[in-house]
Amino acid sequence: MEKPVSPSRSLVQMTELILPNHMNALGTAFGGVIMSWIDIAASISASRYCSKNVVTASIDDLHFLAPVHKGDVVCLRAQVNYTHKTSMEVGVRVTAENPRTQQHRHTVTAHLTFVALDENYKPTLIPPLLLETEEEKQRFKQAEMRRKWRLERRKQFT
Ligand SMILES: CC(C)(COP(=O)(O)OP(=O)(O)OC[C@H]1O[C@@H](n2cnc3c(N)ncnc32)[C@H](O)[C@@H]1OP(=O)(O)O)[C@@H](O)C(=O)NCCC(=O)NCCS
Repeated sequence: MEKPVSPSRSLVQMTELILPNHMNALGTAFGGVIMSWIDIAASISASRYCSKNVVTASIDDLHFLAPVHKGDVVCLRAQVNYTHKTSMEVGVRVTAENPRTQQHRHTVTAHLTFVALDENYKPTLIPPLLLETEEEKQRFKQAEMRRKWRLERRKQFT
């Protein structure tokens, strides 16, 4: 078995500025653009964690809690919460900041599952998580429950 790896190795912080080409027809940020940034931040986090190529296997429900406006600064924070044999869950928290007022709004929290692939594009083993803090242990436990729910849901599509 590979040596356990700290979740902190997978930490990714990404910052984007909302420009006119990111808007939807209503003048707020287009959800698909933010979804793409979530997938990018999370995939960097997953591949950084296991030092392997990864693919997105699934993304849990996404709830956009607050609109994002032109000129807002969007911050994405991604980190591995949970690992199994070849798959891992990455949590991404997205906040939007108005740089003039410095007000931060929690916009989305997303949970994505990635699978590590070998050179033949087959799922391959990843290192286990080194859980040190109470918060890391709690996140792991919650993610384990989501995994059960997710795999149940997957059965409905296969
Ligand atoms: C994800 C993928 C590699 C899984 O391959 P597979 O042959 O079905 O593999 P398995 O059934 O052996 O599952 C491998 C792991 O993936 C997990 N997994 C598979 N599908 C999953 C899903 N929809 N959600 C969460 N985990 C999933 C399994 O639980 C297993 O995890 P474990 O090894 O940690 O226990 C394969 O379905 C695939 O290539 N999908 C397309 C990925 C892609 O192209 N993504 C880009 C977006 S289009």
